[in-house]
Amino acid sequence: MIEPMIVLGIETSCDETAVAVVDNNRRILAHTLISQLDEHRIYGGVVPEIAARAHLFTIDTLVEKTIRDSGIALQDLDGIAATCGPGLIGGVMVGTMMGKALSLSLNKPFLAINHLEAHALTARLTDEVAFPYLLLLISGGHCQLLAVEGVGKYKLYGTTIDDAVGEAFDKVAKLLGLGFPGGPAVEQAARTGDANKYDLPCPMLGKPNCDFSFSGLKTAVRSLAQRLAPLDDQKRSDIAASFQRVVAQCLADRVSHAMKKITIDYPPLNYPSAKTLVVAGGVAANQTLRTGLLNICTQHGFALVTPPPALCTDNGVMVAWAGIEKLRLNLSDGLDFAPRPRWPLCE
Ligand code: KG4
Ligand code: ZN
Repeated sequence: MIEPMIVLGIETSCDETAVAVVDNNRRILAHTLISQLDEHRIYGGVVPEIAARAHLFTIDTLVEKTIRDSGIALQDLDGIAATCGPGLIGGVMVGTMMGKALSLSLNKPFLAINHLEAHALTARLTDEVAFPYLLLLISGGHCQLLAVEGVGKYKLYGTTIDDAVGEAFDKVAKLLGLGFPGGPAVEQAARTGDANKYDLPCPMLGKPNCDFSFSGLKTAVRSLAQRLAPLDDQKRSDIAASFQRVVAQCLADRVSHAMKKITIDYPPLNYPSAKTLVVAGGVAANQTLRTGLLNICTQHGFALVTPPPALCTDNGVMVAWAGIEKLRLNLSDGLDFAPRPRWPLCE
């Protein structure tokens, strides 16, 4: 029987205020989330100042409700985890200060969580994946391939040289007039589209490294949309589906290179878990991309692990779980930990 350990997690780095209570037996005791979509929608994107104020407005009641839902008392917590970066700094500061205040008043360890690491470790909560494993991190701000070697130990195989893949989804949605947030809107529109209708360039295809590039694809979508204007619903759907097909193709190509790298760094005979691909971050919620990645995994004999969509997009559960991972290694942080707008996984 493992010594029980319960951690509260706070996430405020973008446009979701989220809180969760998780234990070291991988049980989610409670989780709550308030999305700010309606506040940002009229601007077509997340406005940092509005986000920070909205986090400040909701965080107290959300923490209170989450504790109530979990059925535990505040004193039963073994640690307080908060996303301390990377992200929109106003929001990050709100969550960090809340975490520190709770830690100080309850006299419990404070765990400063890297938002990217929280995404990266979620698969260990959902599927008990062992280290090392290959990670494809695809979110609004990041697009990276890494070997996850342990808590705080990452080896970067490739990253985007321009836009993140989520950013490409958001920009394509905007230029097609599909609304905000872009990723789910593109996926929805693509459902009724013909994915083979339009030819679009697949940047980096066949290049020997593991880097990504999406700005050329986005520009090609813009030119196509201008050429086909005025756009009706069918044209929008066909463009969305064609774009999604090419993104899936790019990801599969880049991932296949990283698969080769990790099997050299971690020969599967000695490290069987290295033949696992974990996909994390908001874009991992996309079903077409998941199917494309499943095919590439099958071809290369890799297992695919994708947390459920609600744990791929930003949430408090992943922050609480990253807190558990750090706490059991005694990796707590001081109350002088400064919130960080930038905080790369490999420093
Ligand atoms: O991880 P996340 O929730 O926030 C960041 O840390 O960035 O990711 C948000 C990104 C946005 O760009 C959003 O459009 C994208 O994930 N996204 C999707 C889907 N759901 C969210 N992209 C494609 N398909 C989706 N279903
Ligand atoms: Zn995220």
